[in-house]
Amino acid sequence: MCGIVGYIGKSSASPILLDGLRRLEYRGYDSAGLATIDGGRIETRKCKGRIQALADLVKENAAAGHVGISHTRWATHGQPNDVNAHPHFDASGRLALVHNGVIENYQALRAPLVEAGHKFRSQTDTEILAHLIGNLYDEAGGEHSKTRLLEAVRGALKQVIGTYGIAVMHLDVPDALVGARRGSPLSVGLGKGENFLSSDPQAVIAYSQEAIFLKDYDVAVVERDGFQIGTVEGGVAGSYEVTKVDFTSDDVKLGDYPHYMLKEIFEQPHAVRDALRGRLSVEDAGARLGGIDMTPQELREVDRVIITGCGTAYHSGLVGEYLIESLAHLPCEVEFASEFRYRNMPMDKDTLVFAVSQSGETIDTLAAVRESLRKGHRTLGICNNVASTIARECGAGVYMHAGPEIGVAATKSFTSQLTIFTLIALLLGRIRHLSNSDGLKIIKELQAIPEKIERVLEQSDRIKEIAAKYAGAKGMLFMGRQFNYPVALEGALKMKEITYIQCEGHPSAELKHGFIALVEPDMPSVFITPDDAMYDSNINSIEQVKARQGPVIAVGTEGRRDLAKIADDVIYVPPCADYLSPLLTVVPLQLLSYHTAVHLGRDVDKPRNLAKSVTVE
Ligand code: AGP
Ligand code: GLU
Repeated sequence: MCGIVGYIGKSSASPILLDGLRRLEYRGYDSAGLATIDGGRIETRKCKGRIQALADLVKENAAAGHVGISHTRWATHGQPNDVNAHPHFDASGRLALVHNGVIENYQALRAPLVEAGHKFRSQTDTEILAHLIGNLYDEAGGEHSKTRLLEAVRGALKQVIGTYGIAVMHLDVPDALVGARRGSPLSVGLGKGENFLSSDPQAVIAYSQEAIFLKDYDVAVVERDGFQIGTVEGGVAGSYEVTKVDFTSDDVKLGDYPHYMLKEIFEQPHAVRDALRGRLSVEDAGARLGGIDMTPQELREVDRVIITGCGTAYHSGLVGEYLIESLAHLPCEVEFASEFRYRNMPMDKDTLVFAVSQSGETIDTLAAVRESLRKGHRTLGICNNVASTIARECGAGVYMHAGPEIGVAATKSFTSQLTIFTLIALLLGRIRHLSNSDGLKIIKELQAIPEKIERVLEQSDRIKEIAAKYAGAKGMLFMGRQFNYPVALEGALKMKEITYIQCEGHPSAELKHGFIALVEPDMPSVFITPDDAMYDSNINSIEQVKARQGPVIAVGTEGRRDLAKIADDVIYVPPCADYLSPLLTVVPLQLLSYHTAVHLGRDVDKPRNLAKSVTVE
């Protein structure tokens, strides 16, 4: 699910493959591998662990050749170990394949191969696909040719149920690579006298600034001086577009920051400004979101909103629900994308669907988008990655413009998504009951947010001290109400993702209904309690925790000195309108998780078991 890079050209393949994998490294993976065609042999290097370990293997024992494929694996079938790392081979050992995704019917495909005497070395679903293609290739007989390889790939993929982005090469066809996709992204990168396959064209941006994003069921044959794109079924691909790929490498330098996560937390004032840029209209006292491509009349006709996404994007949707209900008075529901796709939710014709995804490649969200589009609903994407599948398939929506997010733990994408939901709520609200002066007030409040986030960031060192104090906790509880209930969920997610401390997020008032049983001295509670209508009720909950010797960290509004009397530690955020408070209150929670993880010596940017872009179901 993480990365594929393939190369065919005149340069030495392995340095290009390793460089490409490194550019995709942030996405999270557990093993890596590559194979090159070196004269009459396929050279393979693969191992569990980091790309650096693979690079060391290649350094010790060079894999020469001008054609190659490479992969970072996020294990779905079989442990992350050297054997299960890709590439995998067919029975002849002459065909190598890398794969992102899941072959769901691998057991059924495996049985006849086993009967025919095929031996499998790994526990992966992928190896079955390699054998299947190799088998069809061998059975076809005749001249070795790219057409024979292409037809074998087609024949195998027609039998596959599941998702795949694949790159295939064959020792007998050393002048071509074959790639195909369904569900997992794959693109053909175009160069001069060399061409590429990659799951993200950023991987090969140093060599190729033009790419063709393959569509589902496209198959590509890539040669040194050309390429052809067709479909799995056998036809020529209807149409394809050559897209200019923007160079983003400057944006992804760490600069003076020790980790991408910290850099991205500090980029939030910027990310919010960029999400707002050109979208606030004092003239309309509202928001202008051209990308959603709807007339005022169409916007008026919307009578219900559904938001879908996963993880942090889902949490931003939960804040979006409060925003749309309170500013636009429209019924709104949020559903996990993985549930939405199977739930068969009753939706009437005037339901508007938003799919939220930083990467724009999350398979569950993509499946939800397809289900919604299939039912004929207007489905808008809120994506950061402009060139992503979700952005393309939605065809309309709002881009986040947050810049690349490298840390696996989402931070600036969350605040960017909150900003966009505020703009959407403002737009929908102004078409309904929000007055001109209400609109202007919201605009003013929004414009003040980036500077207020800067004030929260100034407290990073103090938050570091608080983090050190509680880093030994056996668990943590996060609580908030209304707009800040989703922030509690997000705070808990951040903390568990990168520190591995068990955390739970809840609405504060649920405490007494059950999880108060967990409160004890080494189980700190984090209360998000800005100065809003819920303040007194949150204080009640804090008292209940304190009465049971539970330590309390509170995130409150500047000026509420009374909080310091009851909480053990308080982090203050500047005052703001209640509906915007998540944009401020989440920042201390991100910093608290970050500093705790660093204190515990965790791999902050690449936490265990996680991937940045989840392209498997
Ligand atoms: C966030 O910290 C997570 N790593 C994860 O929950 C993420 O938000 C989720 O996988 C959705 O990703 P997307 O926004 O790219 O669709
Ligand atoms: N399902 C394959 C495996 O477990 C591919 C995983 C991936 O997408 O990296 O090996």
